[in-house]
Amino acid sequence: MISKKMTEALNKQINAELFSAYLYQAMSAWLSWKNLNGFAKWFTLQAQEEQSHAMKIYEYVNDQGERVILEAIDAPQTDYASVKAVAEEQLKHEKKVTALINNLVKLAREEKDVATEIFLQWFISEQVEEERNAEEIINKLEMIGDKGPGMYMLDKEMGARE
Ligand SMILES: [Fe+2]
Ligand SMILES: [Fe+2]
Repeated sequence: MISKKMTEALNKQINAELFSAYLYQAMSAWLSWKNLNGFAKWFTLQAQEEQSHAMKIYEYVNDQGERVILEAIDAPQTDYASVKAVAEEQLKHEKKVTALINNLVKLAREEKDVATEIFLQWFISEQVEEERNAEEIINKLEMIGDKGPGMYMLDKEMGARE
């Protein structure tokens, strides 16, 4: 059993994960438009991963016998100044998500809700990975300078993600 307050907070997090999916799909659309098909593929896969994060929480709320309520998803940013601007926005967004997950853990602890605290541990580790991924992309873009042959190679590398 989980509290009403926790249920509401988890429903909010489902929305945040779905927004992440929508944001990364919008980034992918912009990258396709810029003919960066490797980057576009990477961000589409990332959008799918975010959808699966939402579903993990969705199933947990169901398993706890509480009700999932899906609300409107905000419109994502559609225009970017550069590929680096995309990656910087990704990092900024993931830091926000990390803070949201940390707040959920805090609430679980306040409520002595051990089940939810343990459930959230996976997300804590996942956020370390997500921030590192975004940082790596920024570092690589800084190395190659966002254009030319380096960009061609990096786009290929990004497209190798399965
Ligand atoms: Fe996520
Ligand atoms: Fe991930």
